[in-house]
Amino acid sequence: MGSSLEQTLTDAVLARIEGQADERFRQIMTSLIRHLHAFVRETELTEAEWFAGIQFLTATGQKCDDKRQEYILLSDTLGVSMLVDAINHRKPGGATETTVLGPFYVAGSKQLPMWADIAEGLPGMPAYVHGRVLDVDGKPIEGAELDVWQNDSEGFYDVQRPGASYARGKFTTDAQGRFGFRTTKPVSYPIPTDGPVGKMLLGMGRHPYRPAHVHTKVSAPGYEPIITHLFVKGDKYLESDAVFGVKDSLVVEFRDLPAGRTPDGQSSERPFSEAVYDFRLVREGRG
Ligand code: BEZ
Ligand code: FE
Repeated sequence: MGSSLEQTLTDAVLARIEGQADERFRQIMTSLIRHLHAFVRETELTEAEWFAGIQFLTATGQKCDDKRQEYILLSDTLGVSMLVDAINHRKPGGATETTVLGPFYVAGSKQLPMWADIAEGLPGMPAYVHGRVLDVDGKPIEGAELDVWQNDSEGFYDVQRPGASYARGKFTTDAQGRFGFRTTKPVSYPIPTDGPVGKMLLGMGRHPYRPAHVHTKVSAPGYEPIITHLFVKGDKYLESDAVFGVKDSLVVEFRDLPAGRTPDGQSSERPFSEAVYDFRLVREGRG
């Protein structure tokens, strides 16, 4: 039998926020307090374990800076980001499915012309990614913006290498809704494991790998924007993505082709890969 405080403390804490003016904030805090207290009761947390948790959260904050967001990583690896995504995109209504933003998005990428190479000078297999941006009735959307980013062939994003800037860019669709860009074929890679979240993952016996993908943010005036990925079909981590981000509709064939004519009308002396995908956007307010 525990003390009576053990039984009454949750209600005592909740009583303090009764009458709080912002109803949504009160609802969120009430639920958070209830679940936190239930967690402590269920696990009968020791003081040492409680303090280890405090140290973990402290280290997670200390690992964050303008290039590193350890809390997003924590949310992603615990499945919270994909749960928020699922709740907020319940009715895609024919739009392309969404997935995690991840911690490596950088706003303000440069605007590039069709078929520009975002990975210019980087080693790796050349890849041509192209397709259209359509509405849910299949009508092309002119002037849609594709903001793309991905890793290099060693599995690193530019922001993980001090001073580097590569493999990002913004593209605008033409009158037929078409976009196209060159890059390197993305590779599977481990999410950063040099911080507290990595230790937590390994402690749970989980691997840190994500299947190969290109990130895209697709938007157009009057349409709901989407944040998504194109995953490389056949990747060995599609079934066990460390952040639970894979959806079947986002798995795309990157067809490996011999040297020769390329999708941009030029030619390549090296073998290359080609991926074709049409994004679909739903009108604002109709999702
Ligand atoms: C990424 O795909 O860039 C990513 C997503 C979630 C956690 C870490 C990395
Ligand atoms: Fe990524």
